[in-house]
Amino acid sequence: MSDQDVPEAQRRAEQLRAEILEHDERYYVQDAPIVTDAEYDELIQELRRLEEAHPELADEASPTQQVGGRASAAFSPVVHSSPLLSLDNAFVEEDLRAWDERLQRRLGVAEGDAPVTYGYVCELKIDGVAISLRYEDGSLAQAATRGDGRVGEDVTANIRTIADIPNELPAGAPAVLEVRGEVYMTTAAFERLNEWAAEHGHAPFINPRNSAAGALRQKDPSVTGRRELSMWSYGLGEVKGGPGLARHEEMFDLLRELGFPVNPEIRTVDHIDEVVALCAHWEQHRHDLPYEIDGVVVKVADLARRADLGVTTRAPRWAIAYKFPPEERTTTLLDIMVSVGRTGRATPYAVLEPVFVGGANVERATLHNQDQVAAKDVRPGDTVIVRRAGDVIPEVVGPVLAARPEGLEPWVFPTTCPCPVQSTLVRPEGESDTRCVHPECPFQVQGSIEHFASRGGMDIEGLGERTVAQLIELGLLHDVAGVYELDFDRILELEGYGQTSVDNLRAAIDASKDRPLRHLLVGLNIRHLGPAGAEALARRFGHLDDIVAADAETLAAVDGVGPTIATSVRAWFDDPAHLAVIERLRAAGVNLEGEAAPDVEQTLAGLSVVVTGTLEGYNREEVEEAIKSRGGKAPGSVSKKTTAVVVGDGPGASKLTKAEELDIPVLDEAGFEHLLATGELPG
Ligand code: IVH
Repeated sequence: MSDQDVPEAQRRAEQLRAEILEHDERYYVQDAPIVTDAEYDELIQELRRLEEAHPELADEASPTQQVGGRASAAFSPVVHSSPLLSLDNAFVEEDLRAWDERLQRRLGVAEGDAPVTYGYVCELKIDGVAISLRYEDGSLAQAATRGDGRVGEDVTANIRTIADIPNELPAGAPAVLEVRGEVYMTTAAFERLNEWAAEHGHAPFINPRNSAAGALRQKDPSVTGRRELSMWSYGLGEVKGGPGLARHEEMFDLLRELGFPVNPEIRTVDHIDEVVALCAHWEQHRHDLPYEIDGVVVKVADLARRADLGVTTRAPRWAIAYKFPPEERTTTLLDIMVSVGRTGRATPYAVLEPVFVGGANVERATLHNQDQVAAKDVRPGDTVIVRRAGDVIPEVVGPVLAARPEGLEPWVFPTTCPCPVQSTLVRPEGESDTRCVHPECPFQVQGSIEHFASRGGMDIEGLGERTVAQLIELGLLHDVAGVYELDFDRILELEGYGQTSVDNLRAAIDASKDRPLRHLLVGLNIRHLGPAGAEALARRFGHLDDIVAADAETLAAVDGVGPTIATSVRAWFDDPAHLAVIERLRAAGVNLEGEAAPDVEQTLAGLSVVVTGTLEGYNREEVEEAIKSRGGKAPGSVSKKTTAVVVGDGPGASKLTKAEELDIPVLDEAGFEHLLATGELPG
């Protein structure tokens, strides 16, 4: 940067400082942040870079030099015996390595020298609220939040309700002991809290961290108690009369002995490469944990080295926080729209100002259904928090109410389908889904044909989303039976189609005519009827005509079907329009028969047979087929409900042991044949 840039840099630095202070106020004092932690970190980073590039801008009062936060007036202030410091952040591997090199240099290691070893303790960075617990003569005397690091808030009464935190320490505890750690809410407790909120008509809580912070700042401690908070301890403040400690791990031993919760994932390693590997591991596996973490904290293990390294005004030099990429971001909710799928279900979704979150650009996020939109009370124009965690599809967590512009109206679920037919959307009594009930709704037609041609349905290669959309648009395709009535000469005239692609499509469609009945049943898109139910029906009846002729009671009696599917199947076949589709499929030569001949005697009805090892007369599939076609079940493991275990060559030891334990008859292949033929166990 040149000198001419200084005024610009100064202007930007002032702007950043003001913005950061405002966010601090909202976060620490009002408990109502309007940016995510990651966005806040970015502002701090930008300011720090500016101040480094322009030393003349340095200012002791700059937020980069402060720990951040301020105690609110609602709870009595507590002056910490020693400040609760912040941590410097690392965002990429190079930051960790640069930190380590800085430490080596500070400890007097010149380039080319062998590095000093001090051990790195890697701890999970728990996404919760920092707390300092002061014990005097073995009793909890005071618990305080971090506040601005120097002065926090007295939350002793609330802390006493947390089961993880001891009120009394065992005999021999230090006369004064300050334990520092993180109070957090497990994912399960957070989910229970939101179930409770939904049942009582409250807006859902945003995330476990905010919920923990809110719970700690309740005026009524019994409310805190009901919020199921937990704690992990990770450090000490003032200690009088304690044992001398040489390493950080020894502190954890002491804390464990005194009854404090110490996180089981803490590891000490000797080389920065291992630190890097552990950080990468947790970035991958963060969602395997039953609580939320936002990084890994790396600390020098050797306490004498720590003392040599010292602290700056805001953070220790001997520790660093490796922060994962953010999974939550704020952005603007531009609109709420509704999509209609193959079953006619209308799903509201958020149209967002594009935002990079959880490693991807997000511009749409599901809002599930009408009740969810109402519970979250998100309104077009709101600033919303968007979350994309792990493999989870992006979702709108909720609005940032503090940032809501005035005059935003609540969003109202539309009463008409967004399709050109504009049919009415209906929400049946007692159901959470709203549906378009018009059979010609183009969204439903498109979805149902795509589903018909999908792998689980008639498995027609080349008939995917785009082709279906194109054929519908050109008026060449209107419903599933139309797949077999396509005018291929017309398709050949279309742009993008040559003789080969048309021939391939025709061949794929022809081949699909021979699919077994269960595929056709799945492809027909009958509500509630999935592959398992379809297979059960195909097996029991053997022909589509027999299913069409069966009453609901007969259908419901089929193992694996039940009343919900039966009613839905019956209703589907009661619709004359659907029967007309079946007739067109028949005329086109589509197979309507099941694989198994329906006249196999149902000798195994109600029985369950487990086979282990190889039989001479059957391969795996044939064994299963032999059992299922006779009305039996062929599960993969032995249980109390198993009728018999059939043992072939090379059986699995665990199945045999289990059979013995549960006293279940064991048969050889001959015994199996007998069972198949008669439904009875041999002699
Ligand atoms: S050590 C002097 N260890 O992260 C060292 N902090 O900005 C102070 N945190 O406010 C912190 N897990 O609330 C430490 N294992 C851990 C932690 C941890 C979460 C929080 C803590 C602190 C913030 C750092």
